[in-house]
Amino acid sequence: METAITAAAMVESITRLRAAGCVFAEDEAEVLRAAATDETALRAMVERRALGEPLEQVVGYADFCGVRVRLLPGVFVPRVRSELLVRMASAAASAGSVVVDLCCGSGALGLAVRAQRPGIELHAADVDPVAVACARDNLGDNVYQGDLFDALPTGLRGRIDVLLANVPYVATRHIALLPAEARDHEPPTALDGGDDGLDVFRAVACRAGEWLAPRGIVLSEITGAQVETALAVAEDAGLAVDLGYDDDLEARVVRGQKTVGPVR
Ligand SMILES: C[S@@+](CC[C@H](N)C(=O)[O-])C[C@H]1O[C@@H](n2cnc3c(N)ncnc32)[C@H](O)[C@@H]1O
Repeated sequence: METAITAAAMVESITRLRAAGCVFAEDEAEVLRAAATDETALRAMVERRALGEPLEQVVGYADFCGVRVRLLPGVFVPRVRSELLVRMASAAASAGSVVVDLCCGSGALGLAVRAQRPGIELHAADVDPVAVACARDNLGDNVYQGDLFDALPTGLRGRIDVLLANVPYVATRHIALLPAEARDHEPPTALDGGDDGLDVFRAVACRAGEWLAPRGIVLSEITGAQVETALAVAEDAGLAVDLGYDDDLEARVVRGQKTVGPVR
């Protein structure tokens, strides 16, 4: 919808964003203009952005992997690098597959996989009630709140074909090095993975076999520095492991597969 926003208001917006250090001030001003209902709303949004709130939280959406994901303030903004997770999940899923987006945040990953593979049975869960509300808004039913697998209906045990688990994986000592946008506007529970960043990953890996269907897979994003440890953790959990990577996205994904037989 075109709004009555004058050229002067746009110049004012760009100037404010530039002064706040936004590198892409013109582009961001356009995105804000498209989301603003009038000049008063535009000024308020520009101010939030100038004070460091992520653009996606200010406008209330993120465009990710070809889908528009609605976002609430304080909910993790889906990262471009997570396209690799979506690609690997979509490659493994087909109509009828049970896909779970664990640690779902806004539900962006599940939403993107469902757009590429309509007909999947999608479930999602997160510990953060704000994230859960956001994911329900994006995904509809089958979004649960709670700690990892404890949030899921027991009927999913042994039935999950694709378990997306984009867990928090920043080592605690590295949190201070993150951009202020993330540090100040995304909750620590969405970022902090403990001493080596792999605490939540370990908790997922050690219970994945119980929840995966035979030959089901778990997919988790990690950093380059975590590759060796993460592969060992998944292997120790009884999974067959390999690594997906995309150097352009600077993305690394551990893939663990339940190889055989009955639920443990
Ligand atoms: C890195 S964010 C990923 C969000 C989303 N999957 C994405 O890629 O946009 C990690 C998410 O894990 C959630 N989380 C952290 N610890 C959790 C736990 N123990 N159980 C469930 N969710 C958890 C956080 O609330 C956050 O939404």
